[in-house]
Amino acid sequence: DLFPPLAKLRREQKNLPIFQYRDRIVELVRSHPVVVVAGDTGCGKSTQVPQYLLSSGFNNIACTQPRRIACISLAKRVSFESLNQYGSKVGYQIRFETTRTTATKLSFLTEGLLLRQIQQDRTLAQYQVVIVDEVHERHLHCDFLLGVLRSLVAERPDLRLILMSATINIKLFSDYFTTSFGPKRAKDHLSITVKNLRIK
Ligand SMILES: Nc1ncnc2c1ncn2[C@@H]1O[C@H](COP(=O)(O)OP(=O)(O)O)[C@@H](O)[C@H]1O
Ligand SMILES: [Mg+2]
Repeated sequence: DLFPPLAKLRREQKNLPIFQYRDRIVELVRSHPVVVVAGDTGCGKSTQVPQYLLSSGFNNIACTQPRRIACISLAKRVSFESLNQYGSKVGYQIRFETTRTTATKLSFLTEGLLLRQIQQDRTLAQYQVVIVDEVHERHLHCDFLLGVLRSLVAERPDLRLILMSATINIKLFSDYFTTSFGPKRAKDHLSITVKNLRIK
């Protein structure tokens, strides 16, 4: 039997609206370079999706956030939820401060820092999965980042890109990436899922 607080935590994770989409999200990420996850605030996108991918065998996951504070709090929360299962494998990276080590498999980092990393590592070879979270905020860094990532997914077939948002304009993003693959190949490359998740 699980230690009671842990059992409660596991129950809470299963009660999150996103949980019923767990297998579907993992399957779609396996089969598509670009997946869009749109669901209401609080449904579990930021804390759960990276854990679903980790527990399904994905490694070297970057999850960007518009704000530094979110990187720190998400890294703390996800480390806590995953307990010793991942341990130091979850960290954050913000400019001038990082908890990332060679053991790190999931990093929460700012969009600005990911852009800096692209200057050193043009194809982002250090990551297998890039999650751009809060993509609806559409500020300067994010728009620029999406442009870079769009050409990168065409160049690196092994890279997995996930766009997550509460109020995403799905058509806008799917059109943007459809253009990058060309309409014929787009169906095989782009998957739109978990639209309009509702909190009960
Ligand atoms: N640091 C935290 N402490 C306690 N609960 C948290 C924390 N961070 C998130 N949660 C809870 O986990 C659930 C999922 O949050 P989150 O994954 O951030 O959702 P989303 O990204 O879809 O808005 C929410 O119910 C939220 O209240
Ligand atoms: Mg979130």
